[in-house]
Parts: sequence; C-alpha cells; structure tokens
Amino acid sequence: MNAIVCHQPGELEDLVLEEVSDPTVRAGQVEIEVEAAGVNYVDALFVQGRYQIKPNPPFTPGSEVAGVVVAVGEGVTTVQLGDRVLASPGLGGFAERVVVSASSCMTLPETLTSVAAACFTQSYSTALYTYTERVHLQPGERVLVLGGGGGVGLAAIRVGVALGATVYATASTEQKRAAARQAGATAVFDGDPDSLKQAIREVIDGGIDVVIDPVGGASTEASLRNLRDGGRLAVIGFASGPIPAIPSNLVLLRNRSLVGVDWGIWAMTNGARQQELLRRLLEMVADGQLLVDEPTTYRFSAAAQALSDLVNRNVVGKIALVP
Ligand SMILES: NC(=O)c1ccc[n+]([C@@H]2O[C@H](COP(=O)([O-])OP(=O)(O)OC[C@H]3O[C@@H](n4cnc5c(N)ncnc54)[C@H](OP(=O)(O)O)[C@@H]3O)[C@@H](O)[C@H]2O)c1
Repeated sequence: MNAIVCHQPGELEDLVLEEVSDPTVRAGQVEIEVEAAGVNYVDALFVQGRYQIKPNPPFTPGSEVAGVVVAVGEGVTTVQLGDRVLASPGLGGFAERVVVSASSCMTLPETLTSVAAACFTQSYSTALYTYTERVHLQPGERVLVLGGGGGVGLAAIRVGVALGATVYATASTEQKRAAARQAGATAVFDGDPDSLKQAIREVIDGGIDVVIDPVGGASTEASLRNLRDGGRLAVIGFASGPIPAIPSNLVLLRNRSLVGVDWGIWAMTNGARQQELLRRLLEMVADGQLLVDEPTTYRFSAAAQALSDLVNRNVVGKIALVP
C-alpha cells in the first residue's frame, strides 16, 4: 500500500509518498481502508521532531482517520466488515490502510461525511471536554473563542452554541470571520490584541463568562481583562507561538480562573470516558443538534503542503488528506 513516510524528522517538505508493507490485523484489531485522514498540529510537530513523543524513523504520521472496515481480527464483536468508522491511531493515519484496536473505532452517523469525520475527534472532543469537564459551561453563558476560524475554534463555536451558550469569536481574515459566523458566532472580532478589549466592551455588555484560548500570545491577556465575575479562561494551546505571562492580579480580580486543558493526556488515560464523550458528540451530530464543517481536501501526495498550510495559518477550519 502507499503511505506518507517521514525518514528523518525535521522539514515538512522531506515527507515522501511511497510503497510500504501492508499492515497485519491481530486479535482485537480491525483494518480500516482510509477514505480520509485529518491533518492536525500534532502531526506537524511529530514530523518536525518537536513533539514530546519522538517515534523512531521511518514512521507514518497521521493521528486520526475515517474509512471502511475491511478486516476484523479474532474476538472482535463491536465492529463489522463494511462499517464506516472513525478512529485515532495516533500515528500511521496518512496511509491507504491502518490497523487500530476495535475498541477505539466509532461507527459514523449517515450524515457525517468521511472527510468531516476524519477531522472530528481531536477538535470536537477538545471543545466538549473543555466545556463539560474543565470550565463547566452553563446554558446562557457568554463565550469568546479565540482563533474562531481554526480547527479547535470552529468546533468550540459549534459545540458552545449546541450547549446553549452565546458565542463570540476572533479571527484574522474575512474568510475566517465568515466561517465563524456561519458556525454560529453572534459577532466576530478581528483579533487584534490592541483593540480587542475595547471592541468586546462595545458589543458585549457586562463581560464574558468563558474564553476558549487555543492561540496564546497577546490575545490571552486582552480577553482575560474582559472576563466578568467568576469568569474562566481555558488555556488550550499556543498556535501563535508566544506563551503569555499573565499578571496574576488579573486572575484575582473578579474571582476569575485560568483553567488548563490537556485533552490529549486525559483521553489517553481515561479511554472509556473519552469514548463516552465521543459517542455523545456523534449522537449530537446524528440528532442534528451539532453541524460539522466540511474540511478542505488535499491529495495524500500533498501532505507536506497541507501541514505547511496549517502551521502557516493559511487554512480556514480543517484539512483532510484523501488517498
Ligand atoms: N490542549 C489540548 O488538549 C489541545 C487539543 C487540540 C489542539 N490543541 C492545540 O490548540 C492549538 C490550535 O489547534 P487548531 O487545530 O485549532 O489549529 P489551527 O486550525 O491552525 O487554528 C489555530 C488558529 O490560531 C490562530 N493563530 C494566530 N496566530 C497564529 C500563528 N502565528 N500561527 C498559526 N496560527 C495562528 C489562527 O487564527 P487567526 O489567523 O484567525 O488568528 C488559527 O486559525 C494548537 O496549538 C494545538 O496544538 C490543544
């Protein structure tokens, strides 16, 4: 089969599409014919050798996929041949076929396309985990999503609206702002940290209850200053690069909280609860409560370009690779 291979961690453009040996299915596992593979920040970090886990090369990146089950190992009862599923192999997803444990597969609702499903788990799980387990969002609360045109950002807007919040967002381009509005944001700011505090004050009377922050940099403090009494700022990531140093008096004022979100480690150590969370999200999709954005698609051979476009901020929403 064909797969994207990283022979030496470093440059994204050194990734190659080549023939590799077919995977073998063991007891408890299934083989998925990949219809689409989601592209995530973490995949770029693996290839650049900047992630805390450093796989031995050669390896195939790709942390989440969707496709059709084409082989089942001994003892598998939860998934059947021909099922459309999503799964999170961690590595190995940028390939025509991938083998995963059957217990990590979830059957897809008919309304979820394979390309959207391939980009679903990380962004939507992070959003729902943040709201339900970390900041304890209440219906009617006001949420500000930074980087609202990105993967986590769009998911946080859609999930926030589905949970009954009024959601505002920031995004740097008109295309991203349009996507954020389309996802349900009531108003979208341009995200310039110098004017953000004032821009929010003009539109949102009384301040914000929850900030979702996958961006970091100067926007973090600007949005923290707009948190009302008991407000929470969820620290999710630092896509802009700089890790902000926050004056702690801003947290003391108005009884605010800074809340860390490490969904990845939580999901790894709480497998059953993550499956429950994912099942809930897929039920929300099946019921029509949660709509999911269609990603931009690239061919497998353009994997390096896809990762480069993601890290260079040139993408609205998510990217899926298709074989
Ligand atoms: N903590 C967790 O559990 C968890 C889970 C998932 C993801 N994450 C992290 O969350 C972050 C966002 O992930 P994502 O999938 O949403 O990424 P993404 O789709 O690339 O979105 C990130 C957004 O950040 C904004 N941004 C501002 N300055 C940027 C810069 N210099 N370079 C790149 N982006 C910049 C961009 O929006 P504008 O152009 O509109 O500013 C972009 O849309 C990543 O750091 C990821 O590792 C953390």
